[in-house]
Amino acid sequence: MHEEVKEVLFTADRIQARIRELGGAISRDLSGRDPVILALLKGGVVLTADLIRTMDCPVHLDFAWVSSYGGGTVSSGRVELKVFPKEDLSGRTVLVVDDILDTGRTLRAVVDELRETLKASDVRTCVLLDKEVPRAVDVEADYVGFRVGDQFVVGYGLDLDGHYRNLPYIGVLHGPGAGGAGGRPELG
Ligand code: PRP
Repeated sequence: MHEEVKEVLFTADRIQARIRELGGAISRDLSGRDPVILALLKGGVVLTADLIRTMDCPVHLDFAWVSSYGGGTVSSGRVELKVFPKEDLSGRTVLVVDDILDTGRTLRAVVDELRETLKASDVRTCVLLDKEVPRAVDVEADYVGFRVGDQFVVGYGLDLDGHYRNLPYIGVLHGPGAGGAGGRPELG
């Protein structure tokens, strides 16, 4: 375990087992639809890479870059759509994949953009973590790996100021950031 991690909430083995379950369910649901798997940069990349390798239906892979956290541990409340796929998504089935659903602003903005502007015909959503907090907007994910309480977690795509995305597990850090109260934990 990384020395700055206080507690592991979901081990690498448990995450991979759950992803295999999700991949099986998604493959069954989207079979024959030629779906576009849309990974949200940056945090959603890790889940996407593992998820698509558990899916046995044909998929296309694309990326969107969306950002809501201005850095640190608290959402800025603004969602910036930085880069969207150039591919024509009109009439397509799109599965949006992200690491965590928190206030819901990110997923809501992406789903709205896909439906209203890019004219995708069927938009599904998959997140590894569903934070059990009141949403700022009305959105839920179709496929959820695990539910977590209101705490700041890192690993498996989730970062603190760009660190920890490569941890193969989900954990809680030592320090003030661990409680989600803002500020950066002491590192090292
Ligand atoms: C994080 C996370 C989700 C979003 C969830 O992304 O990856 O996309 O916040 O929060 P919300 O439900 O409150 O919108 P972030 O904007 O930090 O960018 P990143 O993926 O590059 O870390």
